[in-house]
Amino acid sequence: MKLCVDVGCGSGQNTAHLADYFQQVIGLDISPHQVAVAQTKNTVANVVYKEGSADSLPFEDASVDLITCCTALHWFNIEAFFAEARRVLRPGGVLACYAYWYPKTFYNDKDLTYIIDELWDSWKEVWFQTHHHLQSEYTEVPDLYQEQVTIRRAEGKFQVEKEETVDTYMDFYLSCAVCQKARDKYGHQHTDQVLNSAKQRILDAMGNKNEQQKLRVQYRYFLRMWRKPTC
Ligand SMILES: C[S@@+](CC[C@H](N)C(=O)[O-])C[C@H]1O[C@@H](n2cnc3c(N)ncnc32)[C@H](O)[C@@H]1O
Repeated sequence: MKLCVDVGCGSGQNTAHLADYFQQVIGLDISPHQVAVAQTKNTVANVVYKEGSADSLPFEDASVDLITCCTALHWFNIEAFFAEARRVLRPGGVLACYAYWYPKTFYNDKDLTYIIDELWDSWKEVWFQTHHHLQSEYTEVPDLYQEQVTIRRAEGKFQVEKEETVDTYMDFYLSCAVCQKARDKYGHQHTDQVLNSAKQRILDAMGNKNEQQKLRVQYRYFLRMWRKPTC
């Protein structure tokens, strides 16, 4: 196949995997900083990164075989992006949108996710408007085409499991956009206190282990994809 476009590619961590299947892969992102990072890290000849917006895709009509979006769709103007996806996909082409919500977290077999559920509940005011589509696994996104595939996160078919120290695990929350929004709304001090308290609850639930102990962290992806009719 000829052309794959990864929209909202960020620094390209999920873009280059597609290089073996297409003559050309283009990562597109609205942030010049992300595009610069992706270009610096790029080592694959048929992958290029460009600045551009999901609501004005810089491609010809019916020219793209696959559009992917990893943890990005909920940031877009979905109506405008879907109009562009309809325009640029070739007949039979596919739009695949996938993402994960915050990860399931275990210490040995003890499920500690409830601590993060409570943290997330306390920040609902700051994430709901942008991230409700993640919570509902993109199922409330309107259909692009009739032919489609949906994989729910609970199916566990599409999952990345990692071992992470408590410190590294908490860094994920510190660096995420929701935490930045919480800081803007509630202030740095309050937000950091809430995060520290979640971390302490995790350590307590582990039996007062130290921060270098490892948790088992499952990123459970969900996916929705649609195929453009051929006639
Ligand atoms: C959570 S990051 C995901 C990055 C990458 N896809 C990944 O898998 O890690 C969301 C990305 O979407 C980009 N983005 C947000 N709005 C956009 C838009 N309208 N058009 C293109 N990219 C956009 C952001 O700049 C950011 O890099």
